[in-house]
Amino acid sequence: MRPSGVTLYEVGPRDGLQAETEIVSAADKIALIDRLSQTGLQHIEAASFVSAKWVPQMADAAEVMAGIARRHGVSYPVLTPNLQGYEAARDAGAATVAIFGAASETFSRRNINCSIGESLERFRFVTESAARDGLKVRGYVSCIVGCPYEGRIAPEAVVPVAQKMLDLGCYEISLGDTIGVATPGDIRRLLDMVLKFIPTGRIALHCHDTYGQALANILTALDYGIAVFDASVGGLGGCPYAPGASGNVATEDVLYMLDGMGIETGVDLDAVIDTAWFISGVLGRAPRSKVARAMRSSGS
Ligand code: HMG
Ligand code: MG
Repeated sequence: MRPSGVTLYEVGPRDGLQAETEIVSAADKIALIDRLSQTGLQHIEAASFVSAKWVPQMADAAEVMAGIARRHGVSYPVLTPNLQGYEAARDAGAATVAIFGAASETFSRRNINCSIGESLERFRFVTESAARDGLKVRGYVSCIVGCPYEGRIAPEAVVPVAQKMLDLGCYEISLGDTIGVATPGDIRRLLDMVLKFIPTGRIALHCHDTYGQALANILTALDYGIAVFDASVGGLGGCPYAPGASGNVATEDVLYMLDGMGIETGVDLDAVIDTAWFISGVLGRAPRSKVARAMRSSGS
């Protein structure tokens, strides 16, 4: 049941940096993405085409997309909440975009200023245009276990949103524990429900590590056959609309665990750790991840 290989989907340049209040220069964002491109990672979420009034850190998305050295075999997805964002992303050369909805009504309104139902209508414009233009679309469902405004979210609320996003044409749905409250028990209950309706191969897991449960949750999901995990170099991250949410699980922490279990990723741990020290240096601190600190290496 446990997969022999896993795809790591890097979200540091997007989910990680979007939570930083100090603006990181486009040059440093580009340097981060270019370093990540050298690690063996095949999916590096590079930016968001969202309102700069809502997320100022992502205002230079087009400049970042224009500046990166795209490596053959690596995809650089970007977040697009609506058609306006989609068109800007396409014009910036994105080949994959991600739509992002939620299983919580209140989070949907706070994050993208519309109800879940309205968001799915907006996403339809994105997915229809992407199909015409030949772009791939990934889908996120936030608040799969807990919401910063509504508290606990039932697995039953996750399934219809995920299914509708698949019906719209998403190739994969990333289930987001936005505020990092889930435990392995929650992940089991969620996957027992979700995998009744959706094939395992279409599901990814996106863990924030607020309560230190992310690795345990990933291990639990591995036992269900889930083989795609989102992670953020150096444990960067949070969400500007999820008070209390800390960073994503660190890429190097997940990688250290998978390497130790003999699960293939094609990603070089030392190169990721160097990158964690690089971006943490830009931010003026040490990486949050235990592995990066324990294996402090040449990038420090
Ligand atoms: P709105 O204010 O309702 O939008 O925002 P609007 O359509 O009424 O337009 C208002 C203004 O925004 C207009 O400009 C539009 O042009 C502009 P004005 O005329 O006032 O100058 N606008 C845009 N500008 C740039 N790009 C766009 C765009 N759309 C409209 N795409 C909107 C709606 C969705 C735009 C806004 O709420 C927004 O940008 N939200 C972004 C939220 C966000 O990025 N959150 C973080 C990412 S989600 C996350 O982190 C969770 C995840 O990691 C998974 C997990 O952890 O669970 C994915
Ligand atoms: Mg996130």
